[in-house]
Amino acid sequence: MKTLLLTWWTGYIWSHNAVLLLEQWYQVILFDNLSNSDKSTVENIKEIAASSLLGKERVERSLKFYEGDLRNTSDLEKVFSENTIDTVIHFAWAKAVGESCEKPFEYYENNVVGTLNLTKVMEKHNCKNIIFSSSATVYDPSQTPPFSEETKTGNTTNPYGTTKFLIENILRDLATHADFRVINLRYFNPVWAHESGLIGEDPNDIPNNLLPFIMKVAAGELTELSVFGNDYDTVDGTGVRDYIHVVDLAQWHLSALKHLESNTTHLLYENINLGTWAGTSVMEMITFTEEIIGASLPHKIVARRPWDIASAYCSPDKAEKLLWWKAEKSVKQAIDDSWNFIQQKKS
Ligand code: WQD
Repeated sequence: MKTLLLTWWTGYIWSHNAVLLLEQWYQVILFDNLSNSDKSTVENIKEIAASSLLGKERVERSLKFYEGDLRNTSDLEKVFSENTIDTVIHFAWAKAVGESCEKPFEYYENNVVGTLNLTKVMEKHNCKNIIFSSSATVYDPSQTPPFSEETKTGNTTNPYGTTKFLIENILRDLATHADFRVINLRYFNPVWAHESGLIGEDPNDIPNNLLPFIMKVAAGELTELSVFGNDYDTVDGTGVRDYIHVVDLAQWHLSALKHLESNTTHLLYENINLGTWAGTSVMEMITFTEEIIGASLPHKIVARRPWDIASAYCSPDKAEKLLWWKAEKSVKQAIDDSWNFIQQKKS
């Protein structure tokens, strides 16, 4: 049985992924400093996994949790010395673009220094397989979508994007010079609600991302949505993004893992877009939500955010061919699942 380390695994967001990997008979180790989650999520994962195919006893044997911080090499040493790890899935730490502009050093330290510590310890323990959560933010904002993996990268507009861009480059060097085998998965805009209604995103504070914000307005917890700009060169002037469902995202990770395992070539370095081909504007998101909740969604137009670009969506051709997975869930489905999750949480 292969052993996976899931780093910066930020609680509920990746719960579904952890369950999927357990179902595929992996030994799963979660590593997190709990800054964004709490230990009860580990129990939830055990519960969901045990109630599916697995049974309690096997889940207890197959899932381990280490509380630790990537900035402390000793925390990583402990995990690697107590386990033989085959592959690391290096998930994103905080993903708030706006916050990264306010706290750039925190982002560099967590993301870049954390990744350096991780890869150093991996090298020492001869574990060289890594799947990294990269991002659409690595693409040069002057480029026109749909972005392919060959589209120019760099000139990032914010520290979050810069850390992703730097980490991709570090991993490319490690693939070339230190025999690391790397897959960078470039996420477009993930929507975190699972179809079961059990797992989803409902932050306690004001959400940074569009859909969680829309959901809070729909649920009456916030009074109105601010639409950041309606004078972009897009279908209706509002920002266009490529929204992907967490269930598809989890499948892509599993496929990436299988690709890494089945591809026996020594050298492996891939950048892969995870998206749908489809761009959806903020106004379209509002309309879809109104259809689903059966009510109007209060909103007003305000100024643009300084780091935003007009339009970001991708060609996921490579993901479809190399990873054999094409997004199955539409943006409407993602909104529907988010609403379902919020309602179940309230009941
Ligand atoms: C989406 C659109 C906003 C909030 C995300 C992630 C980041 C990375 C890239 C993967 C934009 C508009 C938003 C609101 C609005 N992905 N908006 N009112 O900036 O595309 O970044 O994708 O790792 O992690 O954060 O996402 O959800 O903030 O914005 O009008 O209250 O919605 O201007 O056009 P963004 P977002």
